[in-house]
Amino acid sequence: MNKVRIAPSLLAADFGNMQRDVEMVNSSKADWHHLDVMDGVFVPNISYGMPVIKSIATHATKPLDVHLMIIDPDRYIKTFAALGANILTVHYEACLHLNRTIQAIKAEGMMAGVALNPHTNINLLEDSIADIDLVCVMSVNPGYGGQKFIENTFAKVRSLKELINEKKAKTLIEIDGGVNAGNAKALVEAGADVLVAGSFVFNSKDPGGTISHIANIANS
Ligand code: DX5
Ligand code: ZN
Repeated sequence: MNKVRIAPSLLAADFGNMQRDVEMVNSSKADWHHLDVMDGVFVPNISYGMPVIKSIATHATKPLDVHLMIIDPDRYIKTFAALGANILTVHYEACLHLNRTIQAIKAEGMMAGVALNPHTNINLLEDSIADIDLVCVMSVNPGYGGQKFIENTFAKVRSLKELINEKKAKTLIEIDGGVNAGNAKALVEAGADVLVAGSFVFNSKDPGGTISHIANIANS
């Protein structure tokens, strides 16, 4: 089995000490930095945008996994590429022409990710899965950190894994929202390749140790 990646979400970091928290992720067992961009329209919350990501990018030494919770993300694909995003994920629900958006992300040299809200059925990706590098399965309604994990995610991940295998695709499955040491192993068994964890990591006493803990569970 391939190594399961851990992507701490900086949404739960201490924004007054962002450099310190980014450096903690650099020196931890994490694989990616997960960056949540919210526009207050697609989701009810506003997080942070380009200037903050520019500053994070100057300190980060691991790939930047940028999750856009914004409407009409096509407008900003080149901008996020220039900021240093390595993986750029857009929401299925926010794209009128998903095929075009995926091609545009890849044309900028980034991995193309598609996120699905909890109510969005994975079968809607049947005709595009082979083109998608990563599917981000939202296990909470996007917009906030610290929410309760939605249990239906397990069934959804299993169906998505079946679809990926059936289409002989290489797509990674990422889980985002309410991930912790208690559900990490079951998510991997269902088919997860990347686990995003925000509050579970940053609200713990020893965030670096918590990242190691979840990485060990996921890869055991
Ligand atoms: C939610 C974001 C998540 C969030 C996860 O809309 O996409 O990445 O930071 O936070 P936790 O792990 O606290 O649920
Ligand atoms: Zn996210």
